[in-house]
Amino acid sequence: TIRSIIKGCGSYLPERIMTNADMARFVETSDDWISERTGIRQRHIAADDEKTSDLAIKAAERALDMAGIAASDLDMIVLATATPDQTFPATATSVQHALGMHKGFAFDLQAVCSGFVYALNTADNFIKAGQVKRALVIGAETFTRILDYEDRTTCVLFGDGAGAVVLEAGEGAGQPQDRGILASRLHSDGRYGDMLYVDGGPSSTGTTGHVRMKGREVFRHAVVNLAAVMEEILADVGLTSQDVDWVVPHQANRRILEGTAKKLALSPDKVIMTVDRHANTSAASIPLALDEAVRDGRIKSGDLLMLEAMGGGFTWGGCLVRW
Ligand code: ACO
Repeated sequence: TIRSIIKGCGSYLPERIMTNADMARFVETSDDWISERTGIRQRHIAADDEKTSDLAIKAAERALDMAGIAASDLDMIVLATATPDQTFPATATSVQHALGMHKGFAFDLQAVCSGFVYALNTADNFIKAGQVKRALVIGAETFTRILDYEDRTTCVLFGDGAGAVVLEAGEGAGQPQDRGILASRLHSDGRYGDMLYVDGGPSSTGTTGHVRMKGREVFRHAVVNLAAVMEEILADVGLTSQDVDWVVPHQANRRILEGTAKKLALSPDKVIMTVDRHANTSAASIPLALDEAVRDGRIKSGDLLMLEAMGGGFTWGGCLVRW
């Protein structure tokens, strides 16, 4: 059977850092409030002339480098973002051009904070169907561009960044101990659209709009939905949460991560945590966390990784990966 193997990962964070104390100078908030409620201590902010595609290109180059694969050998790019450079063309085609890939195809995918998991599952299916041999999957955001800095309940939560992985088709016996993406599940439920959304867009207001969120409701749904989807994926392949070496979650909030780990009876030190330094970077947060833990040696060959995310829509899902 064909399985998608992750050959490399990479990430990029803009240079400029804004701490909670920096924010407290222009928003009525405090380091204590933000770090106690969310675990966030700082976030990275893209420079004025730095676009989502610029962050994506840097992350992609690092992932291709680790994989030892040239951009010209890619068949597909899928880029998850809720903050594209322009309404169209897709940011993915700008990245394709900048990388010097002139065959195959590239498109954007929109599932907000769940975008990376959606994109990884999408690319995996193109590979399993035999249509594609090598795919670049990117999550990249300049979320700070859509924040309302008059709204302290949302503007303290987000940051900018990008991460990427390179997938390659591999042949194997399809066993759980073999490398690659073992299983994925995606969900959405549009009834909850008004809990987390942007109040603008080309066909509604003609403006870009700003992030709006009912934080408490989002929190409550996140813990329940994330634990459920992880159980579902593990059951698909006949494994249990005790087989998981690392959870690589979307980084929204330390309390969501701890709450979800607890529901699965997983020790919090099996959860890769970057939210303290990156804040919530939406579709970029999983590949950013993955890349950090791979490069610092925590994630080793043969480890079982559970990637999971939940975001606006609501959308949620996960992917189980043998590294
Ligand atoms: N600084 C200081 N005080 C604040 C701030 C702030 N930045 N924001 C809100 N407050 C105040 C509120 O005004 C309120 O004051 P009041 O009691 O006088 O009315 C008080 O703090 C408590 O507000 P709540 O919203 O009830 O605080 P809560 O404990 O729910 O924490 C939070 C808010 C952190 C947003 C929490 O609900 C949460 O983490 N929700 C999850 C949402 C999330 O992480 N979303 C990310 C996007 S979705 C995703 O990626 C999964």
